[in-house]
Amino acid sequence: MSGRILAVESSCDETAVAVVERGRRIVTGIVASQVALHAETGGIVPEVAARAHLRWMIPVLDEACARADIADWSDLDAIAVTNGPGLAGSLLVGITMASTLAWVHGLPLVPVNHLEGHIYAAWLLDAEEPERPAPEFPVVALVVSGGHTFLVEMRDHLTYRLLGQTVDDAAGEAFDKVGRLLGLPYPGGPSIMRAAAGATRRDRRFPRAWLGDTDDFSFSGLKTAARRAVSAELGGPDGGPIEPDGSLLPEPVVAELAWAFQDSVVDVLATKTLGAAERCDARTIVIGGGVAANTVLRQRIADAAASRGIAVAVPRPGLCTDNAAMIGAAGWHRFNAGERAGRDLDARPSLKLAV
Ligand code: KG4
Ligand code: ZN
Repeated sequence: MSGRILAVESSCDETAVAVVERGRRIVTGIVASQVALHAETGGIVPEVAARAHLRWMIPVLDEACARADIADWSDLDAIAVTNGPGLAGSLLVGITMASTLAWVHGLPLVPVNHLEGHIYAAWLLDAEEPERPAPEFPVVALVVSGGHTFLVEMRDHLTYRLLGQTVDDAAGEAFDKVGRLLGLPYPGGPSIMRAAAGATRRDRRFPRAWLGDTDDFSFSGLKTAARRAVSAELGGPDGGPIEPDGSLLPEPVVAELAWAFQDSVVDVLATKTLGAAERCDARTIVIGGGVAANTVLRQRIADAAASRGIAVAVPRPGLCTDNAAMIGAAGWHRFNAGERAGRDLDARPSLKLAV
């Protein structure tokens, strides 16, 4: 038993393979991003994503194996693969490769939930990174990605109690839609963060959806408010049926709107996460998913948690967005729990986190 797992991730628009030791130490992690490809269409076209996975999966695997120095497959304990949630065609590329490798080399195949991967990214250590303690339970985890936004409590490994979730758009989806509305390049998250950093006028002009005392989230009202604001800035009617074109706005106005939008999202995410952590007596707050790469959100949660004596575990930005190392981290715990998939492992586009 080497404690090494080879992990494969292809649920959305990153083709990724990693080797991870004992669910913590990244031996190697390779990610081929399709961002440039999808920038042309301003969003992901599922069939285009699946074809790009087919094109890149083997080169990414080759590179990962070369860097991890895998000459003998018996050095691995298992192969882990994302089986959902995600785009069916994209998931199938990773699943087909992982299950073929497992079969050919006689290794166990471990299915991993992509959302669980985003949480377990907080356990990872880079190859050369000094040891640091693992997140301590109870954990409250905020997952904020392009497709999902939710809060869970974990009292131990692999156990989740859902505290709240979005009732409409995911936070990343809202960033992407408002980014497009403002005429910023895809994906909207990093573009809005960059534009907001240059804002000189910082006015809290957008609403916050608190949804009473629940831990649920809603971002569709904020999106509508942003749309109205763009229309108004363009001098057009409020909220007409035609999407206003924010690319016609002067840069300082775009920056101001980007700032106000980000401020509203961060305010709600951070306030609800801190409130949930206090109620659950959490020792650690974990943040994961692409939106957790946002430096304003990270800082806001770090500051608020520090003043309450709660630790924060947030992966470096490259491990917040989709990668295979996080699947290797979660896969290690699933492997030790005895979870195995047969050769009939299928894609589960709407797979839920076990709660
Ligand atoms: O986790 P992820 O890579 O893929 C999914 O599983 O969905 O998340 C992608 C999402 C996109 O919506 C992207 O706009 C957002 O994460 N994102 C960000 C930032 N970087 C990526 N949102 C806000 N600020 C960022 N810096
Ligand atoms: Zn993801």
